[in-house]
Amino acid sequence: MNANQARRLVVLGTGGTIAGRATQANDNVGYVAGQVAVSDLVAMVPALAACPLDVEQVAQINSKDMVLGVWQSLAERVAEHLDRPEVAGIVITHGTDTIEETAFLLQTVLRPSKPVVLTCAMRPATALVPDGPQNLSDAVAVALQPDARGVVVVCAGRIHGADDVAKVHPYRTDPFDSGDAGPLGCVEEAQLRMFRPWPQAVPERTHDAPGLQRLLGADALPRVELIFSHANADGEVVRALLAHNPVARRLRGIVVAGTGNGTVHDDLLAALKQAQASGVAVVVASRCGQGRVVPHSGQPLPDSAGLSPVKARLALALQLLGI
Ligand code: SIN
Repeated sequence: MNANQARRLVVLGTGGTIAGRATQANDNVGYVAGQVAVSDLVAMVPALAACPLDVEQVAQINSKDMVLGVWQSLAERVAEHLDRPEVAGIVITHGTDTIEETAFLLQTVLRPSKPVVLTCAMRPATALVPDGPQNLSDAVAVALQPDARGVVVVCAGRIHGADDVAKVHPYRTDPFDSGDAGPLGCVEEAQLRMFRPWPQAVPERTHDAPGLQRLLGADALPRVELIFSHANADGEVVRALLAHNPVARRLRGIVVAGTGNGTVHDDLLAALKQAQASGVAVVVASRCGQGRVVPHSGQPLPDSAGLSPVKARLALALQLLGI
């Protein structure tokens, strides 16, 4: 293998706004996501012409519609390519809306010792000034970094870790935040400036990872619902979930996005205790956009160990799957 082959990259397309198309170039919101082929996105970035690349379209969706089948195809393709010695890293184009969940899932099941870099855009490919090409170019710079590892999200010049990244703005071209942890680093003119270590990795062959095999073998993720505590909350939603609980889609868990330090309205808490008593796993996260539930001895429910509500929901589903 020569040095050029060892720096081979794989770009996997899944859709999103980065692949979106609008009828007017000045329309940054009324577009259809997941229209432009990933091979065409790659062709829009001249710097990528010099880079040995394999390009695959794994899906072509708006990421709000993410389903287990797409996650399985993506995880399987990522694992296959990571196991190729000549592949230095993987770039995934993805919608911004659930990118944090896909990144968390891939990091949880794979913990790759090579970089898996998800990137995206807030403006469609047809925009007057699309942000996708620069984000894709930055993602490639990260994926080619020799010491890079783990699953990260690259957007607007910042590198976010899979565990911390969250979409916090519906319109800005820099919509992500990594909360108190902050981004792992930034990309400036294809140069990386790191603030924190790369995510944890395991050296084993990726496609043999037991978590991956469990994910690929699943017909469905265990059913975990996400609800909020709020002023004037009652336990009706929980009681309705328990009352309508078909065997085929049995409720296995509930994550409640609690107020402040993971507190839950007394009336909702009573219903959640009822759910717990019937065998449903209940976890509390904080609905605050930053910080985490600070554990204390009087906690009525286990907390999400710092995960946001959406990631806590996915983490509990994966845990119930044995991952
Ligand atoms: C999506 O998540 O697929 C659409 C929204 C976006 O990419 O910004």
